[in-house]
Amino acid sequence: MHIIKWSPVSERHSRPPTTQKSPQEYTDDLPQSQGTALITGASSGIGAIYAERLATRGFDLLLVARDQERLEAAATRLRASHGVQVEVLKADLTQKDDVLKLEQRLRSDSSISLLLNNAGVAADGLLANSDLDQLERLIQLNITAVTRLASAAAAGFAKAGRGTIINIASVVALFPERFNATYSASKAYVLSLTQSLNAELDGTGVKVQAVLPGVTRTEIWERSGIDASQIRRTW
Ligand SMILES: NC(=O)c1ccc[n+]([C@@H]2O[C@H](COP(=O)([O-])OP(=O)(O)OC[C@H]3O[C@@H](n4cnc5c(N)ncnc54)[C@H](OP(=O)(O)O)[C@@H]3O)[C@@H](O)[C@H]2O)c1
Repeated sequence: MHIIKWSPVSERHSRPPTTQKSPQEYTDDLPQSQGTALITGASSGIGAIYAERLATRGFDLLLVARDQERLEAAATRLRASHGVQVEVLKADLTQKDDVLKLEQRLRSDSSISLLLNNAGVAADGLLANSDLDQLERLIQLNITAVTRLASAAAAGFAKAGRGTIINIASVVALFPERFNATYSASKAYVLSLTQSLNAELDGTGVKVQAVLPGVTRTEIWERSGIDASQIRRTW
């Protein structure tokens, strides 16, 4: 299994592009289709960057999040710039019915060759003072949905003898005392799940990877009411 610690997206993207290709040049250079990558949380941040990078590598895309308008805008851009097929699927992964639909898709669509379990939320504050309904939604998204989708992908990919499962954990999985208890615990779960799943899938041809990003400037902080610059200073 690969465990990747990721440098901040903001830093990577502050560099100017070296060459600007036309959409046609991208299309001419495309590798053969790699199958379809199902990306949860593809409407912003790390998931949106993965969508771009996977399209560059010739993957067709199935983009999942709640904000359909944003997903459609990304899909239009990616089709034009990379010539790949892009489908948009609106889903709230705290809702079991929506998760079940995605599971079903993973089990039945043999074109899907990569699952990126990326959608996630953070939380602020001490466990003792937390809004427990909000924490339950965090657990549904960061743990339950990740587990169910990884299971469905593992079954389909192992049967096909190929495929890749990437689970986005966090560097706080390794030092939970530095951050909010429930978020850190959810990411430690993702790391542990990925390590065990990797062992379970040994010899099947399925690749399993955990990614442990450090603090990365995305919308996750604003969404959870945390000042990312303060976190950076204390780490
Ligand atoms: N940014 C960091 O510093 C950092 C560090 C370590 C790990 N991570 C992890 O990286 C992953 C991506 O986070 P990010 O930083 O890129 O944050 P982000 O920009 O806020 O992206 C989160 C994505 O998840 C989607 N999402 C949120 N709630 C959802 C729900 N209920 N159902 C379906 N989709 C939902 C959002 O789309 P919609 O709102 O459209 O649904 C969005 O596309 C998360 O798992 C996070 O824990 C981030």
